[in-house]
Amino acid sequence: MTTVRQPEVEVLLDPDWAATSLVADVRRGLSQQPRTLPPKWLYDDRGSDLFDQITRLPAYYPTERERSILQAHAADIAELTGASMLVELGSGTSDKTRMLLDALWAGGTLETFVPVDVSEGTLRSAAELLSKTYPGLQVQGVVGDFTLHLGHLPRGGRRVVAFLGGTIGNLYVEERAAFLGALVDSLEPGDWLLLGTDLVKSSDRLIAAYDDPGRVTEAFIGNCLKVLNESLGADFDTDAFSYVPFWDPRMDRMDLRLRAEMPQRVSIPGADVVFDVACGEEIRVEISTKFRPDGIRRELADAGLAVRKLWTDPDGDFAVTLAERV
Ligand code: AVJ
Repeated sequence: MTTVRQPEVEVLLDPDWAATSLVADVRRGLSQQPRTLPPKWLYDDRGSDLFDQITRLPAYYPTERERSILQAHAADIAELTGASMLVELGSGTSDKTRMLLDALWAGGTLETFVPVDVSEGTLRSAAELLSKTYPGLQVQGVVGDFTLHLGHLPRGGRRVVAFLGGTIGNLYVEERAAFLGALVDSLEPGDWLLLGTDLVKSSDRLIAAYDDPGRVTEAFIGNCLKVLNESLGADFDTDAFSYVPFWDPRMDRMDLRLRAEMPQRVSIPGADVVFDVACGEEIRVEISTKFRPDGIRRELADAGLAVRKLWTDPDGDFAVTLAERV
């Protein structure tokens, strides 16, 4: 009988990190035009729960589409990569990863799974569960920020780094290039990136996916003001903002904003910021970029990653790309 190996969890975030970088993000973002708040901070416990509800909304297709692609091609991914290590950036509960782990485990090559997430609690419970599910698998969790700690990933073997869910679409163009560059720097030739990206489609369907009648998405985006009120003592009048999602065809992205319905002076003591919001002024909370297959290939090639496979679901709604560091 194979014994269960105890998961290891390495904490790369110092306890002040969240506080310091939230303050820096808030100060920088709110001085831009339009004022911007980074989406990273949407995922406190309430935000994570709301996002979970979003993934189950009928009009929010990405989660189901990506799942179907992974379902159809997990065995191909295992065979093409022969991975001994799977790293998952922003792993959360590692739900979708189960299909990959199953296929890699069945392929007999997998030794180590490295979930990377900022939330220590979520990471520890996922690590425990996975160690038990795959006896003999070494689970080496990393509590870290995937934009900061790519250089600290465990080395050796044939590695596949999975970045799923379309989360890369939440990065601004220059952040995306910086992220891919840092990722490539941390990879060896022959390592792989498995990337999930949402694809451009009709604006009607895109808007429907981000503007549900039950207003779950509105609550999710609005949660960022509550996070600032709670963690930095801000005094946003959260009821005075309305949710404005729109499709920006020039940038190929959904742009999700909050519009002030009355003028207000906001102070954020924890960030030492006071500012006036005009009536009708919008604060951008999240972008969600949609891609075209050619664009994915080009951006990855520019970073030094050669696309070996690009799979979509039958309707062409979502793509999962397997690219090799050359
Ligand atoms: C974090 C990329 C999975 O952009 O679609 C969903 C976040 N925001 N509805 C996305 C989100 C509003 C989501 N991902």
